[in-house]
Amino acid sequence: MSELAVSVVGMSKVYPVPFSRRAVVAVRELNLAIASGEVYGLLGPNGSGKSTTLKMILGLVPPSRGRAEIFGRASSDVASRESVGFLPESPYFPKYLTGTETLRFYGKLCGLRGERLRARVGELLELVGLASAADRRLSGYSKGMLQRIGLAQALVNEPRLLVLDEPTAGVDPAGSRDIRDLILRLKERGTTVLLSSHLLEQVQEVCDRVGILANGVLVREGRVEELLAVENQTELILENAPAELLMQIAALASTSGARLVEQRKPQTTLERLFLEATQPEDSSKRRTSNAEHRRSD
Ligand SMILES: Nc1ncnc2c1ncn2[C@@H]1O[C@H](COP(=O)(O)OP(=O)(O)OP(=O)(O)O)[C@@H](O)[C@H]1O
Ligand SMILES: [Mg+2]
Repeated sequence: MSELAVSVVGMSKVYPVPFSRRAVVAVRELNLAIASGEVYGLLGPNGSGKSTTLKMILGLVPPSRGRAEIFGRASSDVASRESVGFLPESPYFPKYLTGTETLRFYGKLCGLRGERLRARVGELLELVGLASAADRRLSGYSKGMLQRIGLAQALVNEPRLLVLDEPTAGVDPAGSRDIRDLILRLKERGTTVLLSSHLLEQVQEVCDRVGILANGVLVREGRVEELLAVENQTELILENAPAELLMQIAALASTSGARLVEQRKPQTTLERLFLEATQPEDSSKRRTSNAEHRRSD
């Protein structure tokens, strides 16, 4: 069996409500087992307990009951966080620093110095598509650019586990796609990624497995394609099919006890439409230059 990157057993969090005898149960009896190298998505509406769960796993919030481990070490043990990168929900960065200075600061916190630090900062800026904005102050960064610098910050120490709380919050569809591509590249390198989101379509494309939280309870969990499959149906997509072939297929289906439920033109997603309409040129190009172009016009 592969090593577990994250293990959560019977974890609950109860927040007291000030000046009241009531309490908020943010997370209830949660169990999670995330394998090393897996991309796991924690889904759920606002207030369902996603951030609280991530913070308990990271040892930043103590659980009221239960326990969490990262690569076999208790989350309460500071050393468990050595190989972890975290992008919080609303990261705060000093706005007067440039992109490079910000990453140098975090790199130094992780013990990098000299040439290794310089090289790592350059590499990260390139990786998140901020190389051309490296010397601009964060006060002039757009929301999506700040999210990217947050992501770069989380990657400084080459973590084995990357925890991302709403990584695409405030990022436009093209930026979100870049972040998804980056997550997939990290996965190829063996990084385990645990992310939270309420943007379901985006999660679908990167996550191996998802868990759905509702009122602090894990109500569904599984592989994305298994959760979404309609077991007793099969989709056929034909190109250039003449009308009579379609009629023959329908007739054939009925003779073998099947039923043609629906016949329609496949639809593109609104996101794909948006990307095609806004980025007709080479889509693999990094987007900072576009963002800067928009800002200057
Ligand atoms: N520090 C806190 N003190 C008291 N209650 C809290 C605290 N943090 C979270 N809660 C409560 O716990 C519940 C879960 O909150 P949490 O932030 O974990 O949800 P979430 O799924 O991350 O929501 P969102 O999608 O809005 O980020 C909510 O009812 C929230 O009000
Ligand atoms: Mg949250």
